[in-house]
Amino acid sequence: MNLILFGPPGAGKGTQAQFLVETYRIPQVSTGDMLRAAVKAGTPLGLKAQEIMTQGGLVSDDIVLGIVAERLAQDDCRSGFILDGFPRTIPQADALDAILKQAGRSIDHVVSLEVDNDEIVKRLSGRRSCPSCGKGYHVAFDAPLQADVCDVCGSGLVQRADDQEATVRNRLLVYEQQTAPLKDYYKSKNVLCSILGMGAIAEIQQRIISALVN
Ligand code: AP5
Ligand code: MG
Repeated sequence: MNLILFGPPGAGKGTQAQFLVETYRIPQVSTGDMLRAAVKAGTPLGLKAQEIMTQGGLVSDDIVLGIVAERLAQDDCRSGFILDGFPRTIPQADALDAILKQAGRSIDHVVSLEVDNDEIVKRLSGRRSCPSCGKGYHVAFDAPLQADVCDVCGSGLVQRADDQEATVRNRLLVYEQQTAPLKDYYKSKNVLCSILGMGAIAEIQQRIISALVN
């Protein structure tokens, strides 16, 4: 299954991707995670992306398309993938179509998680993640067993640099202006399913799975 998990910052894309990876045994391809790894490693690409990401803007289409094309060509993506945080602009969506078409593939479903802005601000201010294994948490809604310690690998949890309130506001604005129009783009291709992304994490997981089997 070739899937796009779509939605504003804090919609729960990363959280739901973790479940979908286990359910469908296909990898999560998160451009945000890949860019953060490049920033952490201090690669030339990471150095280019760092300032834009800290401000909550979009990294250039060229950079993002390069890393996605390379990732989708890897063996583990052969039986499918879950794109998380990509595409984010119409040119990215067009380029993705072209990459897949060349390989005789296409997108099967675009799952759009619908969450209101007040909820997003609450989610992002309490988000924590594990710098070692990548598992995500929320201090109130999805807390680790021991405060600030990863349940899976025992590392200390961290807060993302772009989860500061001013940056979150900019990310929401960028989403509305540049990314939300992709909903119409995928609606016209008959692959969009909109899911209510509010409520318990497990409930949303069930909604997604029901939408994918129908
Ligand atoms: P990226 O990493 O993709 O960030 P994002 O899209 O802003 O989304 P988030 O990761 O913040 O949210 P999420 O939907 O994954 O929510 P999560 O599951 O963590 O991108 C970061 C930056 O990289 C961009 O700003 C840009 O600069 C750059 N970039 C990335 N891709 C790019 C591209 N394609 N083009 C250009 N630039 C790109 O959940 C959030 C919190 O809520 C967690 O704490 C979680 O535990 C909690 N939570 C989840 N579900 C629920 C629930 N149902 N109830 C209560 N709490 C919940
Ligand atoms: Mg995420």
